[in-house]
This record gives sequence, structure tokens and C-alpha cells, in this order.
Amino acid sequence: MSGKTFYIETFGCQMNVHDSEKVIGTLMAQGYAQVEAPEDAHLVLYNTCSIRDKAEQKVFNRLQNFKRDAGKGKIFGVLGCVAQQEGEKIFDRAPHVSLVCGSASYTRLGEMLVQLEAGNRHVTGLSLDTDETFDTPFTRRDNPHRAYITIIEGCDKSCAYCVVPFTRGPERSRTSESVMAEARRLAAEGYTEIQLLGQNVNSYRDPSAAGWDFAALLGRVAEIPGIRRVRYTTSHPRDFVRAIVDAMDANAVLCDHVHLPVQSGSTRMLAAMDRLYTRDQYMRRIEWLKTARRRYSITTDIIVGFPGETEEDFAQTLDLLEKVEYDSLFSFKYSPRPNTAALAFSDRVPEEEKQRRLVILQEKQRAIQIRRNAELIGAVREVLVEGRNQALGQWIGRTSDNRTLNFTQADSNGDSLEGKYLPVRVTRSGPNSLVGESATVV
Ligand code: 5AD
Ligand code: SF4
Repeated sequence: MSGKTFYIETFGCQMNVHDSEKVIGTLMAQGYAQVEAPEDAHLVLYNTCSIRDKAEQKVFNRLQNFKRDAGKGKIFGVLGCVAQQEGEKIFDRAPHVSLVCGSASYTRLGEMLVQLEAGNRHVTGLSLDTDETFDTPFTRRDNPHRAYITIIEGCDKSCAYCVVPFTRGPERSRTSESVMAEARRLAAEGYTEIQLLGQNVNSYRDPSAAGWDFAALLGRVAEIPGIRRVRYTTSHPRDFVRAIVDAMDANAVLCDHVHLPVQSGSTRMLAAMDRLYTRDQYMRRIEWLKTARRRYSITTDIIVGFPGETEEDFAQTLDLLEKVEYDSLFSFKYSPRPNTAALAFSDRVPEEEKQRRLVILQEKQRAIQIRRNAELIGAVREVLVEGRNQALGQWIGRTSDNRTLNFTQADSNGDSLEGKYLPVRVTRSGPNSLVGESATVV
């Protein structure tokens, strides 16, 4: 086994994916080479997610597979949300692990690597008491056209079901100056799409004297020459203010898509979840979007089977789906998590009932998506070409409103279209994507 090689596998959200890009860059700057298989690596890292129990179990399954390699010179590390949540208990559960580090400690990763190399068997980064963000010039971005930029880390909300405040620590925003400098550098390097990231981007607040809020930052990033698309995720309805819609309306570089997680259509459930808004307040934000200057696609996250959720509460969620007509949604069965308030709630919904509700919800949403996507047949949309599906002979495109629009191009001369922006006419639609053909005239 060669020294100074590493393997990393990433679970969870885009924040984690981007954290891994930064971790990879940090490792490479310290002389490590990335390999594609854990068997070939000197250092094996898992960047983990603990949002639901199933996600958490994945890392322990992976570690189990490598138990035999303990003591053979291989170093195992657990990063991210499971690391932060389980802490040193991981050393007991998987004794071949020697690094346990949460995302709030990645700025110290370099020195932790030195300790590991020196043979230290238990290296930890578990403090959440930080006002630092993990900014590094070494980020190794995976996609040559779309780049993530973290603008805010951590979360100060206390949703009753959610581990994130415990795994990612308190909110801390980067200065607008450092965000803008990174965005300008990326534009100069040829990236055309920027995705601003944070657990709650809406509560971004520039800590420097400029004092920009999220809407101001959005507007400024969208003005950078060379940047053609700006997306952001994820939003909290409570902090999703009117100025954000106004900023989007003012500049079409800000993509036609808002992800606004609602979690439930029942005000009673929203209160139990400590979401800090009512159904009506949420619907007001939807109205802003529906009456805006452009048509925005709206997507959401829903949890079914939160403790105490009755048939009537669930019916209200189904009704909300009809009222909003989401373009897409992520739905989850409630999963009890350590440290969270809801862990102590009684009146748990049985597993079979959660499953039943999930299926009903997904079927309803599928019908909505079939309907909404069919409305687009005949329309022309600009796509960013993301890749090629050889088997289907199609290019893979993404619209500003975040739909997958795959298309054929009659005269591409075998040249790659990847990274290009092209107008495409929609010819067919399904529940999850559109198909079309390249259109020369928009
Ligand atoms: N159980 C189920 N789903 C959850 N989510 C967050 N915590 C839980 C949990 N304990 C969902 C929410 C959130 C998305 C990222 O994951 O819908 O918006
Ligand atoms: Fe998973 Fe949440 Fe952590 Fe992202 S922040 S990795 S979704 S637990």
C-alpha cells in the first residue's frame, strides 16, 4: 500500500458534497493523492449524514466491511454529521477508526492529519463553539461548469425533529467580500453557474461593515460578468422575505426556482415541529412567487408521520400540495433523532401508517408533476448541457427552473455540447423530466 493516498465517500446534502470538495483540496495540498477504491487508500474517509436513522446506519455498515483491515496501516476517519453527533463513541463502536471530526472543525483538518501521520490513534475535532467558517483556496470542484459556494454555516433554528443545529453548530456567515471574491474567481476560471449554500441561506447576514442581507448578496453575485445562473439552497420560510423575490424578479440570472421546505400543511403540526410559521404565512410566500414577474418553479420537503400527526393533519398536507402545485418534492417518513425535542414526544405514528401516508403523498405529487410538466410541451427553454446519455442518444440538460430536459441535436458534428447554454423545444413530458429537441430560435 502506498502512503499518502486517500479515499473519500460522501453521504447527505449538498453542504456535505461541497465540504468534501474542500476536504479533498486540503488533503491534496498536503501531498495526498485521491484514489477511487478504499482498498487502495492509506486514509479512508467517510463524510457522513445523520438526518435520518437510515443515513446514519450507512457509515457503520461501511466501517464494518473494513474491520479486518484494522492495524494494517490503514487509517479510518469519520467526518461530518455522524462524527459530530456520536463523537468519541465511534471509537468504541468501530475501534479501527482513528479520526472523528465534525464540519465545524475542518479548519483544523491539516493539523489533525499531521497527528494521524504521527501515529496518534484517537484524533478528534468535535468543538461546536466556533465562529469560523471553512474557507479554503484549495477546494477541488467536481463539476467544471457549476460551483458551490458556502455563504453561511450552521443553523440557529430548533425544529423539533432536526439534528442539524447539533451537528453543524451555530449560524455563522462569511463576509460578503470573501463570497464575492470567490464568485469572481470562479467566473474567471470559466464557471457559469453558482450555487450558494447554507442550512438556511435566508438568514445570511454579512458580518462586515457592508452588512448585506441575503437578498443584497443574491443581487450582487448575479451581476458578476460571466455568471449566467445563480441558485441557492436551502431556505427557511420564516426568513424568506419579500426582498428575495424582488431581487429574483430584477435579474433573470437568478434562476426560476425556489426550494421552500414546508414539512407539513397543518398549522398544528408546524407548531409541534417548532417551524415558526403557520400554513397561512407559508401560503403568503407562495403567493409572492405565484404573482411574481416570472414563473418560478417551487419545490419542497415534507415529513409524514411526525408524532401526533392525525388523518386530518395529513389531509391538510395533501390539500396544500394541490394548492401550491409543487413542481417537485422530497418526502420523508419521520425518523426520531438523538438530542432533538421530538424524541421525547409521545403519540408516535406507527411505521406502517407512515409508509401508507408516504405512498399516498407521493402518488398525489406524481399526478401533479405529470400535469405540470405536460403544460410545457411546445415551449422553448434554455438548458445548461450537463452531459450525455449515450444509450438514449440524448444530451442531458437542465432548465433555469431546475427541470431535467434531455434533448437530441441533429447536427452536433460529434462535438461535445457539455457546458453550453442552448434553446430546446419540449416535445414530451413525464413525471420527473422532459424530452425535447434543440431549437435554434428562442
Ligand atoms: N425525519 C425525517 N425527515 C427529516 N428531515 C429532517 N429531519 C428529519 C427527521 N428527523 C427532512 C426535512 C428536511 C430534509 C432535509 O430532511 O424535510 O427539510
Ligand atoms: Fe445530513 Fe443534515 Fe448533515 Fe446535511 S446537514 S449531512 S442533510 S445531517
